[in-house]
Amino acid sequence: MKGNQAIGVFDSGVGGLTVLRALHARLPKEGTIYLGDTARVPYGTKSPETITRYALEIGRFLRSHDVKAIVVACSTASSVALDALRAEHDVPILGVVEAGANKALTVTRGGSVAVAATEATVRSGAYARMMSRRRADVKVVQRACPLFVPLAEEGTVEGPLARAVVAHHLLDLKDSDVDTLLMGCTHYPLLRHAISEVLGERITIVDGADAVADELAALLSERGLLGTLETPLRRYYASDDPRRMQVLGSRFLGSTVERVEGVEL
Ligand code: DGL
Repeated sequence: MKGNQAIGVFDSGVGGLTVLRALHARLPKEGTIYLGDTARVPYGTKSPETITRYALEIGRFLRSHDVKAIVVACSTASSVALDALRAEHDVPILGVVEAGANKALTVTRGGSVAVAATEATVRSGAYARMMSRRRADVKVVQRACPLFVPLAEEGTVEGPLARAVVAHHLLDLKDSDVDTLLMGCTHYPLLRHAISEVLGERITIVDGADAVADELAALLSERGLLGTLETPLRRYYASDDPRRMQVLGSRFLGSTVERVEGVEL
């Protein structure tokens, strides 16, 4: 394994670009290959078996591009398919669930955390399990927010409609003992503003993107695998219409996605 091999990153769609954005900021000299499985999004409503099959197919695709590490930038896939991916590949595989859970534990003051996530992630209980393992007395409330992904995909992330949907899923947390809300889905950071408007300042909102970037930086440094590229590779693949991912993607990435290639998995 060499330092200047790229890092593979994938999500069910464009949400994982919020994680890629954090990776680019933290590790600017690393090449990255991103795949959005836009033909099969959403994963959040599918069975663990189907999600695992999709994740393994993408893992093989990324390894065929000789990546030195894989970041699963999808909470749903991280919740159910991480072990299967690790069993198949001998490169480091990091997921946003572990990173997000660790971060929420460092942020919570009273030990009461709410996790907002897709149905599949909530069903898996991965965030709650991960946090309880590290801190036995933590109280975790899980909330499936199925309307958040379509809102984010459509770019309706501010204003009355976004606030009404956020309130529909989360308003009752405002007067609970929850002090930290973990955005357990990589699409949700786009709704951060609307979520904080509904929940108010008392509840701290966290996501796993920066945390997974920090974990990857530490791991690459430990293994002598840090990249040193001045003009690193930035490659994007989509399993459905590349143009749509290019347009939507720029919103999630926070900068222009230059070119997206189509891929059949
Ligand atoms: N990116 C997915 C996640 O983080 C949400 C979209 C989906 O349901 O596929 O869970």
